[in-house]
Amino acid sequence: MTQPLKLGIAGLGTVGTGLLKLLSDNRDHLAGMTGRTITVSAVSARTQGRDRGVSLDDVRWVDNAVALAKDSEIDVFVELIGGEDGVAKEAVEAALEAGKHVVTANKALLAKHGIALAKCAEEKGVALNYEAAVAGAIPIIKTLRESVAANKIHRVYGILNGTCNYILSQMQDKHLAFSDVLKDAQEKGYAEADPTFDIGGFDAAHKLAIITTLAFGSAVKFDEVHVEGIEAITSADIEAAKDLGYRIKLLGVALETDSGIEARVHPAMVPKHRAVAEVSGVTNCVAVDAEEAGNLLLVGPGAGGAPTASAVAGDIVDIARGIVLAPFVRPAEALTPFKRANLDAHHGAYYIRLAVYDRPGAMAAIAKCMGDQGVSLESIVQRQATMGAESGAAATVIMITHETTEEKIRSALAAIEQDGKVAEKPQMIRIEAL
Ligand code: HSE
Repeated sequence: MTQPLKLGIAGLGTVGTGLLKLLSDNRDHLAGMTGRTITVSAVSARTQGRDRGVSLDDVRWVDNAVALAKDSEIDVFVELIGGEDGVAKEAVEAALEAGKHVVTANKALLAKHGIALAKCAEEKGVALNYEAAVAGAIPIIKTLRESVAANKIHRVYGILNGTCNYILSQMQDKHLAFSDVLKDAQEKGYAEADPTFDIGGFDAAHKLAIITTLAFGSAVKFDEVHVEGIEAITSADIEAAKDLGYRIKLLGVALETDSGIEARVHPAMVPKHRAVAEVSGVTNCVAVDAEEAGNLLLVGPGAGGAPTASAVAGDIVDIARGIVLAPFVRPAEALTPFKRANLDAHHGAYYIRLAVYDRPGAMAAIAKCMGDQGVSLESIVQRQATMGAESGAAATVIMITHETTEEKIRSALAAIEQDGKVAEKPQMIRIEAL
């Protein structure tokens, strides 16, 4: 048996302690498989004394994560601290500079500094593995980096945030309002006290930036992704979607168009008979439409201690086996600059919900605004009379358009608002052709 593979682990939260447990429980299995013992040489975390339910008796404690990253005893630095800058970045850079392999679960770090870190890893000939950074246990990084590496990728999309999927699923199944489900999710610990990162779509956008870079060979950063969250989704939208044969999901979608790459996170109407529509609760999924491989769908836990630790451990196993790949499939120097597609040119069908003043001629005026922009309606339903907040009697009108462009839809909705026939800002949800 060759030399043991020695790890330094920084960050002992749910994932870190899950990893310690997995490495201890599966020690013989891992050694048998890789031909090497995988040992934890040292750890680092904010507080040393806390009971984490795992023994740290035989493990050296290092106060400073950056010092641990450069520690002469370790072969692999495992970064589970989190955060796009600060200690996590400093420690990962230090580890790579010192010629250590790095395994990280840090999506924010990768989505902001991934290319620079990849260049450093390549120069040093070490691994930078990050399966756990995107969708927990779902092996989407391996899929894009290895399994379909020979394919032209047409599109990647998925449900990349469990909190949003839980909220939308509960709204649908229990007929609850967004704010009530969010409160419940916070009480149960599914959603953070400040849920903005999840419900605003930012968490999913970090993940999408990483998989877009892998899929299309284009260096995409988090702030180049178009992001819309789920805050504006109402029970009326959820119920209308159900009646029309759709489910509303927060999707991350990336595809190549004539004008560049569309990388977008937003609520979308998904036909209910599609497998993605069936992915509910905190579960995540990622689909890859590839030229030769066809359409793949990976479904599973996108978060949690054990599933995320499983992805981290898989990356460690690769290193134990001597596998070192370019972090973003091709050499970092070969990645092309990101050319963002013009979303105005996005072609698709749209769901529109309007609170229309219940007055003669209002519908005709709305239909004219649509017609003037060349937007053709597939269906139009007046659902029920409601009261607009400050505006007197209004009726809910749901429209589904035929395929058109986003520019035309936005112009038509702006004209409708300007015309004064609606009591609220129109709701617009893209219908994703899957
Ligand atoms: N907060 C994320 C989610 C998990 O709700 O899916 C970590 O990325």
